[in-house]
Amino acid sequence: MTCRQSRMLRNLLFWMGLASMGFCPPGVRCQQAGADAARGYQALTRRAFVPGQFPMSQIENAWKLWGLKEKPANYRDLFRERYGLAEAPYPNGDLPMGLKSSRMPLGTEGASLDCLTCHGGSLLGKPFPGLGNTSLDLQAIFEELTTRGTKPIRTPYTFCNTRGTNEAGATSVYLAGLRNPDLSPKLPWRDLGLHDDLCEDVPAWWHLKRKKTMYATAEADARSVRSIMQFMMHPLNFPSAFEREENTFRDIQAWILSLNPPKWPWKIDTARADRGRLVHRQHCARCHGTQDHYPNKVIPLEEIGTDPTRYRGIEEAFGDFYNQSWFSMEKDGWFGPGYKAQRSGGYQAPPLDGIWATAPYLHNGSVPTLEALLNSPMRPNIFTRSFQTGENDYDREKVGWKTEAPPAKAPVSPLEARKIYDTRQPGRANGGHTYGDKLSPEERTDLIEYLKTL
Ligand code: HEC
Ligand code: HEC
Repeated sequence: MTCRQSRMLRNLLFWMGLASMGFCPPGVRCQQAGADAARGYQALTRRAFVPGQFPMSQIENAWKLWGLKEKPANYRDLFRERYGLAEAPYPNGDLPMGLKSSRMPLGTEGASLDCLTCHGGSLLGKPFPGLGNTSLDLQAIFEELTTRGTKPIRTPYTFCNTRGTNEAGATSVYLAGLRNPDLSPKLPWRDLGLHDDLCEDVPAWWHLKRKKTMYATAEADARSVRSIMQFMMHPLNFPSAFEREENTFRDIQAWILSLNPPKWPWKIDTARADRGRLVHRQHCARCHGTQDHYPNKVIPLEEIGTDPTRYRGIEEAFGDFYNQSWFSMEKDGWFGPGYKAQRSGGYQAPPLDGIWATAPYLHNGSVPTLEALLNSPMRPNIFTRSFQTGENDYDREKVGWKTEAPPAKAPVSPLEARKIYDTRQPGRANGGHTYGDKLSPEERTDLIEYLKTL
């Protein structure tokens, strides 16, 4: 066997036995005919859509990799904290939100990831399905839970470079490389342009109903159900599984479309917020829209000036595969127009509904608070945070997460290093979007007060 073949085989085994999850795509603006949101929530929270990736024995014994001598009494809490998973607000056995009981390929007990691994966050200490998970360390999950032993494994690519962001895009590109356009298995693996430094911040699902296009780059049709099924490309899911589950994902999409943003839970200075509304009308609404109208605007990379890595990191080769594949053929079947991916040239200005709850900001999560987003010289260049979401971790003044300077001595452990957001690293630049810089301090404070009301 050549080196290349052996690497491919290793990678394939990795995905079959262990890994796989998804990227996610897309949505629709109103629930589609026959779809049912309540059924969707059931499916989302009760069913696994890929075979087990993590042996249950390892979920019980992961502490052996943490440098501990014995299993701590509060193991479940420490487990959630280490990997950045919230408690499940629905029946889920002993597992946290984002892990689902699922048989391993050889029939033993295991668990797999699901949509809520990334899309189940927590807010002020409470689990919140549909909010992006900005505490997650997906790299630690794959290194420490896919093994059956006391040594972390090496993953075929990086799942997370900095905690709270993930490489969902790389996962789609990687898994698509093992499929033909009709989704039948394909070997050898073909590189459709794999980049694992996009540092994606997971968007809140309640925006989907306002959007015509989805993802940071607006490159997918928000109505597409098949696009959000890319998650199912585990090598042991056959093409028939995709057909079979399409209606289930239509229901899941209906649930996503039923979500609303949470309300700011503290007092609001209404006189200030009223003045802030005018600042918003004048300086922000042309791109972000208002409560009544959302323009679905894409701003070219050169104009917005934020980190272009995410945009460039999904290449034409993947787009071409996607547009020839089952995923894009939704509407009128294989020979119809379908929901194609398209190049957009920039980033979509997202709706600002519930913006107080979705820090950190920008598509790469590089800016921890609204205050810093609206005053670019104030943005910290290197910082860490608690990765907890309690009231004490939340900054009500600046609106977002409290941050600290990183430890003076760079941590040796990769897990600790991932807790540091260093904006000089690839995919993590915090420049651009300087539209708040020219505001007076008074206008900015008014504007932030208004943003709390959305
Ligand atoms: C590994 C983490 C991860 C998993 C698992 C995951 N997603 Fe996502 N999802 C993301 C990220 C990151 C984005 C933003 C991608 C981008 O724009 O760069 C996203 C975007 C989306 C969007 C578009 C939102 C918008 O406003 O543009 C939808 C809808 C979505 N995901 C649905 C799902 C569904 C349904 C599942 C489960 C089948 C799922 N996702 C699984 C990480 C994940
Ligand atoms: C020229 C269009 C444009 C204007 C004007 C503009 N924005 Fe944006 N905004 C964008 C785009 C595009 C993004 C996404 C950039 C990215 O993620 O790289 C964005 C991102 C944001 C985000 C981060 C969203 C998130 O979920 O992370 C916030 C908050 C925001 N803008 C608020 C404002 C406010 C407040 C104003 C008014 C002072 C404003 N913007 C003016 C285009 C604009």
